[in-house]
Amino acid sequence: MPRAHLSFGLRVLLLLVTAATTTLIGCSAVSQQPQRASSSQTPPPPAAAPQSIKDTLDRPTSDPYTGELSIFEYADRDRKLQIERVMDLLGIKAGTAVADIGAGSGWFTARAARRVGPGGSVYAVEINPQYVKHIEARAAKEKLSNVRAVLGREDDPQLPPQSVDAVLMLKTYHEIEQPIRVLTNLRRSMRAGARLGIIDRNGKGDDHGVDRAAVVREAEQAGFALVEEHDFVKPDGMDYFLVFQADTKVTS
Ligand SMILES: C[S@@+](CC[C@H](N)C(=O)[O-])C[C@H]1O[C@@H](n2cnc3c(N)ncnc32)[C@H](O)[C@@H]1O
Repeated sequence: MPRAHLSFGLRVLLLLVTAATTTLIGCSAVSQQPQRASSSQTPPPPAAAPQSIKDTLDRPTSDPYTGELSIFEYADRDRKLQIERVMDLLGIKAGTAVADIGAGSGWFTARAARRVGPGGSVYAVEINPQYVKHIEARAAKEKLSNVRAVLGREDDPQLPPQSVDAVLMLKTYHEIEQPIRVLTNLRRSMRAGARLGIIDRNGKGDDHGVDRAAVVREAEQAGFALVEEHDFVKPDGMDYFLVFQADTKVTS
């Protein structure tokens, strides 16, 4: 074959080989692009942040009481509830700061205010504005200048951080629509070593009671640990008095 033909054929062959090689390299580069992109660029955000501890309820609650406040003032309530003993167990003494969550008529607020004296204070927290007014008027009438009535939110008692040494929820927990949120906010208002007492009655949630086990579980979700349990508040096997403290292992 003439040299010119050979070199033309060779050139064509070379061109074909070059084109094929380029295509192959190109394919290879394209197929590698996603890998490069993923290794050299900012990593994508995690698929979904792990859900924080569930803080909403999937059990029923009772409607907040809106009736006549005199029902909380019956004659032998102090004796039946052994309220002095309750206050002892919560460490309520002269000079301490106390919160009464779901204060109603201010029945417990007034007793706590007398015990803590002028050097202490009691936050009477209510979501019902009329009850807040009632407590303010009562405190003025009974000359309890250490009482501060607070209009709380359904999910937040609205207390200052690190402001209380003891908290009582007296026959209120079963009405709280978002107890885990309330307790989480409350924990931030409690000073180191502060105690939270919950007095309620076993029930289904919407029958003016709530199971003790549900309260313990929800309090733990909110960062509390059960430290004591008593049944003297009404020795009928239905009512319970639970005492919690902030779980020191929980930091949020
Ligand atoms: C059954 S009454 C008990 C009143 C009082 N603790 C007593 O035993 O004399 C419950 C009260 O809790 C209040 N309450 C319900 N949910 C609340 C919440 N999330 N924060 C504050 N108070 C609440 C209601 O308005 C009602 O006055």
